[in-house]
Amino acid sequence: MRAAILTSSDSGYKGQREDLSGPAIKEILEKYGYEVVYTVLLPDDREMLSQEMARIADEHMAELLLTTGGTGFSPRDCMPEATTDITERAVPGIPEAIRAYSMTITPRAMLSRAAAGIRKSTLIINLPGSPKAVRESLEYIMPALEHGLEILTGEASDCAGTMPARY
Ligand code: MTE
Repeated sequence: MRAAILTSSDSGYKGQREDLSGPAIKEILEKYGYEVVYTVLLPDDREMLSQEMARIADEHMAELLLTTGGTGFSPRDCMPEATTDITERAVPGIPEAIRAYSMTITPRAMLSRAAAGIRKSTLIINLPGSPKAVRESLEYIMPALEHGLEILTGEASDCAGTMPARY
């Protein structure tokens, strides 16, 4: 599977802060055998973020698009809004699962407004902004993602017997 990574950060875009979360996502994706075909860093701008996400999906650049940053309460945080602006089908279960699991680590996980959805054949998932939160969230969802992407891309047609009840 091909993956793209979009980091949302005003300070990162201005070169005032190193993006550590994008590389953390890349490392985990590659560990699971994904090919990271594209990474991009944009400011917390709803229009720019949504246009870039739509472009990645419309040009069939990747089956999975992971975003990091911009899911919190800061006035500039707009990643969930940018995502829902351009996704055609909502996938609430993934951010629900991330928040539920993350709540076992920190009650602050309830502050993540992350969303997920599908546009064409690309699954878009918002992850929080810190490298720590990214690692915790992504490692938790990776085992289930593969099956979802196989269904999305037509490589699998049913759910029978392919996934253990717990992992
Ligand atoms: N999820 C996990 N697993 N671990 C964390 O440390 N931090 C939370 C939350 N989710 C956290 C987490 C915090 S402090 C915030 S404010 C929100 O994610 C939103 O993060 P963002 O604004 O960086 O996107």
